[in-house]
Amino acid sequence: QARTDLFRPRHHLTPESTWMNDPNGLIRHEGRWHAFYQNNPLGSDHANLSWAHAVSDDLVSWTHLPLALPFSEEELIFSGSVVHDAENSSGLAGPGEPGPLVAIYTSAYTDAHPTLAGIQAQSIASSTDGGTVWTYHSGNPVLDRSSANFRDPKVFRHQESGRWVMVAVEAVDHQVHIHTSADLLTWEHASVFTHPEVDGGIWECPDLVRVPVSGDGTGPGAEAWVLVLSTNPGGPAGGSGTYTLIGDFDGRTFTTEASPQPLDLGQDCYAAVSFSGVDGDPVLLGWMNNWDYVAQTPTSPWRSSLTLARTLRLERSGDGTLAVRQHLVIPDDLRTVDLADAAAAEAPIVLDAEEPFRLRGTLPSRSPWRVVLSFGDPEAPQDLVLSSDPEDGVVLDRSRTHAEPFAVEHARSLPYLPGTEREELTIEMVVDRSCVEVELDGGRALISQQIFHGASQVGVAVGPIA
Ligand code: FRU
Repeated sequence: QARTDLFRPRHHLTPESTWMNDPNGLIRHEGRWHAFYQNNPLGSDHANLSWAHAVSDDLVSWTHLPLALPFSEEELIFSGSVVHDAENSSGLAGPGEPGPLVAIYTSAYTDAHPTLAGIQAQSIASSTDGGTVWTYHSGNPVLDRSSANFRDPKVFRHQESGRWVMVAVEAVDHQVHIHTSADLLTWEHASVFTHPEVDGGIWECPDLVRVPVSGDGTGPGAEAWVLVLSTNPGGPAGGSGTYTLIGDFDGRTFTTEASPQPLDLGQDCYAAVSFSGVDGDPVLLGWMNNWDYVAQTPTSPWRSSLTLARTLRLERSGDGTLAVRQHLVIPDDLRTVDLADAAAAEAPIVLDAEEPFRLRGTLPSRSPWRVVLSFGDPEAPQDLVLSSDPEDGVVLDRSRTHAEPFAVEHARSLPYLPGTEREELTIEMVVDRSCVEVELDGGRALISQQIFHGASQVGVAVGPIA
């Protein structure tokens, strides 16, 4: 088995032998989950951008379908979304055909394009066979601002206004432009959103999602809107990363009085967007990598994975503030080690590191502890450490996990500081070879990080700080 195959996760979507970046066109349709993603069908670098396609029944095992949207010499197919045009408002399905799936993506025109070289504009493709075969629309692009950095359209149906809504960024100008449409083909400008606190890099991959609210003083049907926004660099934990902004949306304008909050405290969750076709808690996938060091991730010829799916919900506290709660979608049959058993054991619990596993349990929220995963040779272990202490909070630290230097500038997650009202902190940690995700404190924080130990054995130990 090639060493890099030991890095390939089982329950995260990876390309077979090529490059991957952003998730695109996420949609639940006819009972199946479809994920498209930014892909170079010809290589392991960020080039020839096209949409690859995979499907899943359970969000944890994926099967590839043929390449959906191929690049051409004149046009790269950048990020975007897919919606089910059930009423055929676009007219893209013929008589007697079911309402089409419609992909809205960014055409990044190359220097070879005769009239639009250097422009990024929004275009459309449609499928009437449930998403396998796609046809580019003859009237593309459908939305062109003559801009070099206008991209990443995310489209959803807004029930109250009965219109389609598109959020897309002017990446360099730190703007989210909102357009609306009756037919997905002609778009009317509605508003521009900006936020002075998200200014560390360019803005990419916006998503505007309706999120259920539970908690103090909420009734059934309570909801708010969350703008999910990625920036590169300037992400919460360094390099590229994703923020959430909680606010309100009236069909034309998004308003917020909130400050941006990290979607994830680790470095490996970018361009996260939600699935179309889901009622209730939105379900998101992100790209499990970072533009800062993706070129150094030691897998070949495949590169990158998507994160585990995560659900989003808002919780209202007594003072009326809203906070995001997220839960990882974890396979039911995952091998599970109870943290209490690891804490009681005299020696580390040794596991086969080639098979995914989960650590779960509760640890004190106000006294120090360490969960240490020692990969490889016990005489020269490569340690991944989740630690907590009252001052620094809970941190995932991969600085001693790698034999070769990896992501040294971004080794530690941002700290999570549990509230003082709970004595116990819940922990769910999924280790799927090179992908680690930690859900803390009932979903009040998630941490996503890649690790490249390449070991086939791991020892798990829980203890107080030495
Ligand atoms: C984000 C991004 C998008 C763009 C795509 C190109 O990672 O830069 O803004 O559409 O990747 O691959």
